[in-house]
Amino acid sequence: MKNFIYIANWKSYFTYDQSVTWLKIYGDGLNTLAEHTTIILCPDFLTLATACSLESIRYGAQNCSAYSTGAYTGEISAQSLSELGVSYCIVGHSERRRLFHETLDDLARKITMLFTHNITPIICVSDDYTNELQTILPCIQEMPYSKKQHLVIAYEPVSAIGTGNIPSPETIAAILIDITCLVKRFLNHISYSLIYGGSVSSVVISELKKIPTVDGFLIGKASTDFQELKNIVEYK
Ligand code: PGA
Repeated sequence: MKNFIYIANWKSYFTYDQSVTWLKIYGDGLNTLAEHTTIILCPDFLTLATACSLESIRYGAQNCSAYSTGAYTGEISAQSLSELGVSYCIVGHSERRRLFHETLDDLARKITMLFTHNITPIICVSDDYTNELQTILPCIQEMPYSKKQHLVIAYEPVSAIGTGNIPSPETIAAILIDITCLVKRFLNHISYSLIYGGSVSSVVISELKKIPTVDGFLIGKASTDFQELKNIVEYK
């Protein structure tokens, strides 16, 4: 069985108190679950800064500033995230593009900031993945080689996010192959993982884990329920 990556995107489902309580109750269980697999927990910024110390868990932010430190009211810089020990950051999520009007230019800047501060970007692409990647990948290609490390690309069709409406495994497999071709066309010397996101749950995980090109899963709502997350991770 492949060693999949599991990214728990808690979005804004919990208040700060609720996140802290969740971690008090399930933290040890989550830590044990992560001893033999990669689990990246992405809670809100406040929780990241004050309540995240499980040793087997890797931590990720859900966003970062497109700029370095300076006069950018309300933004959290990649440098601050790096100082906190955050090693991953989700960027380009379709919710941010739709609700907060983030552009591909913003996304490219964020990726640059993350690489500069040694944080692995988890780049979300959606139905328009060809156009998105054809814009983003050349920007990555132009960055100094020494700053580029690993990259995670998450394919998340908008119609699958929070709906239970997942494309067939064949469709996902074909799209991940397409994405691989695009990545290889632009980036030769960078390692990357390809993950699927959108309504991942214990009900559909058996089918999703059979997709040969998938390296892991970006899990939203289901990751807020510890037993559900455990079922997803432990399904063999
Ligand atoms: P979902 O969200 O698992 O709740 O569909 C996934 C995501 O948006 O990252």
